[in-house]
Amino acid sequence: MRFIVFGAGALGSLFGGLLSRHHDVLLVGRKEHLSAVAKRGLTIEGITSGVFRPDTEWDGSSYDMVLLTTKAYDTERAAREILATFGKMPVLSLQNGIGNEEVLADVFGREQVMGGVTSHGATFVENGRIYHAGTGETLIGMLDGRTPDMLKKTADAFNRCGIPTTITSHIQREIWKKTMVNAAINGLTSILRCRNGFLLENEHASHLLERVCSECSAIARAAHMDIGEDITEKTREVARNTAENISSMLQDILKGKKTEVDEIHGAFAAVARVHGISAPINEFLAQAIRAMENVRHLG
Ligand code: PAF
Repeated sequence: MRFIVFGAGALGSLFGGLLSRHHDVLLVGRKEHLSAVAKRGLTIEGITSGVFRPDTEWDGSSYDMVLLTTKAYDTERAAREILATFGKMPVLSLQNGIGNEEVLADVFGREQVMGGVTSHGATFVENGRIYHAGTGETLIGMLDGRTPDMLKKTADAFNRCGIPTTITSHIQREIWKKTMVNAAINGLTSILRCRNGFLLENEHASHLLERVCSECSAIARAAHMDIGEDITEKTREVARNTAENISSMLQDILKGKKTEVDEIHGAFAAVARVHGISAPINEFLAQAIRAMENVRHLG
């Protein structure tokens, strides 16, 4: 298959590199990263190790689908750019947060949009070099639960390249679950400035984790989203498996970058409002993290 990876940061480059084992891959991303890849190849260290050679310049030929791995706040801009440059095509979002697929459906049409969640973790080392930090399953699915050929081909293509992938007819549920886990881990580690594992070790932090999870579960119930498992337990398990990680949101804050707060806490607070319930913890985390994006630190 022929893939475009749009938003080739750490995760996008990981998928692009792995897929380039057996498929044509075009990376689209920051100029400096892409010119390093063009010169020396894409180096992946950690769980995967090797130098991969995805394309970094478009020669005008057509592609089968786009893998979207930009930050969630860039979804609409990215979708319009893809449409203007490459035309209408199938798109798979592997982004964080709730609502990306709806934005994509408005631009590309619902039948072209796939959602995905992945347990792979990657960090950016330097231009042309990434670190493959965590592995696990990738789930992909259509918004309406159908299993068209395009979805099957994509899963086969991923599996063939060492990205274990399963098709689900409940991708929205998986996206909600992942976002609930992110709301607890990313939000709390950001305001506490701690590694993920601290949320299990410290009794106060652990209590906060339970409170975020139970508020998110109440929002899911109000929205008739059947989560099908205890999200507090799931969140503890993820925190345990990623105990040494600095969450992506805290990394953004530490680098003075914009976070995905609006697509995580902001999104839960908005869904709660639509269903007439209150979401004080998500509202608080949303405001606190937006303030942290702008604060000038003393000393
Ligand atoms: O956003 C993140 O950092 C990750 O999704 C997770 C699972 C919380 C681990 O750090």
